[in-house]
Amino acid sequence: MRTQKKEDIFRRTEWFRNDRFGLFIHWGLYAIPAAGEWMMSTERMTVEEYAPYFDQFDPVDFDPKTWAKLAKEAGMRYAVLTAKHHDGFCLFDSKLTDFKATNTKAGRDLVREFLDAFRAEGLKVGLYYSLLDWHHPDFPKYADAKHPMRGNPAYRDEKIDFDRYLEYMHGQVKELVTGYGKLDIMWFDFSYENMTGETWKGEQLVDMVRTYQPDIVLDNRLEGSSEYNGSIAWDEPYVCSGDFASPEQIIPPEGVRDDAGRALPWELCATMNNHWGYCSFDHTWKSSEMLIRKLVECVSKGGNMILNVGPDAKGNFPEESVKRLREIGAWMKKNGGSIYGCGISEFPKPEWGRYTQKGNHVYAHVYEEPLGALPLYGISPDRIRRVTMLADGSQVNRGEAWNTVLFPHIPFVNWGEDPVFTWPLPDRTDTVLDIELKEKPE
Ligand code: GLC
Repeated sequence: MRTQKKEDIFRRTEWFRNDRFGLFIHWGLYAIPAAGEWMMSTERMTVEEYAPYFDQFDPVDFDPKTWAKLAKEAGMRYAVLTAKHHDGFCLFDSKLTDFKATNTKAGRDLVREFLDAFRAEGLKVGLYYSLLDWHHPDFPKYADAKHPMRGNPAYRDEKIDFDRYLEYMHGQVKELVTGYGKLDIMWFDFSYENMTGETWKGEQLVDMVRTYQPDIVLDNRLEGSSEYNGSIAWDEPYVCSGDFASPEQIIPPEGVRDDAGRALPWELCATMNNHWGYCSFDHTWKSSEMLIRKLVECVSKGGNMILNVGPDAKGNFPEESVKRLREIGAWMKKNGGSIYGCGISEFPKPEWGRYTQKGNHVYAHVYEEPLGALPLYGISPDRIRRVTMLADGSQVNRGEAWNTVLFPHIPFVNWGEDPVFTWPLPDRTDTVLDIELKEKPE
């Protein structure tokens, strides 16, 4: 198998590593049973049993302009929509299948409208495309690990022509990369067991995608998954390694590094409750405070976060999601400077929160209120040029006083008028201090 250059991965992902925060949208027929996008498989439904959702699908409220405005308001810089999920249903007008949005009551190419609306808001755009397909007759069933018909004796001796499926799958990807303008991301999902890399004719697929979209950023799941990073961690990754690792529902405790210890591009994909596709009975919503702090954690470990919304069957974002997008947005509006273009700090994690860093600006994310002045762990006192509140640009005073003399190697700051007293944190979610450093001493 051919390899690709690490430098190319870093070049392609430059904007991606800068933008840090994106929106994932999982939407399809599964919004109707409202139990998540894996339902067809977990309930072992046949294509016929799943068909009523196709007849029913009628997203009367679908208005991607509203979605795009919300994403923008949240401070997200890119968005990825499920053009096709594992159930095989296509939100786009594929010429290769009838199982598509244009043939439902929706009657429209929902992918095209999504792309137009998000581009109009100045966001970068991407498409998720499932390598699995539980609708296509030539996808493995009986012995497959995930298919709804796995282990079903009716399919034990079924003859399929997997090459025909690959032709279909490659054909659909070609439709997406040739018919919809510039795509910034292609999010393939996913590889498992022997269904990986060359099983998908991955090299050929990547070559084709890059012929039409030379700068597109690819995730790593044409070869890997949330369980396996694939060869992207190697010195010389394969052509299908993709450009970033895709940890799912977990922030890698120490970020993601390659075998040589170099920090790699990665993106946490996470849900706001515990489902990707709309789930009417899942009320386990994470708080906005938590989501903001997790975004900060990703950035402090050199990664991105793509946060999911599962619109309902009518095409609306759930209210709980909208609320969180707005709350995150209010914080991002003031503090986005500590996220965009930022990454791992040269200083170790302080015990009251986290640092992110961009050049000579260190952003202190303060979660725990100090008693008295706040120690800026790890930074030497004479390296600090000035400290301001990122939210409003106001000056933050140095906190050195009679009670800090025992700790001369640690700089202190305080945002109240007297450095000795305790002043409440201006933002209990995450108060961000912008610490401007002097250039490093020669
Ligand atoms: C998974 C799931 C899926 C979801 C995806 C998002 O691998 O199969 O339903 O779309 O992760 O990361």
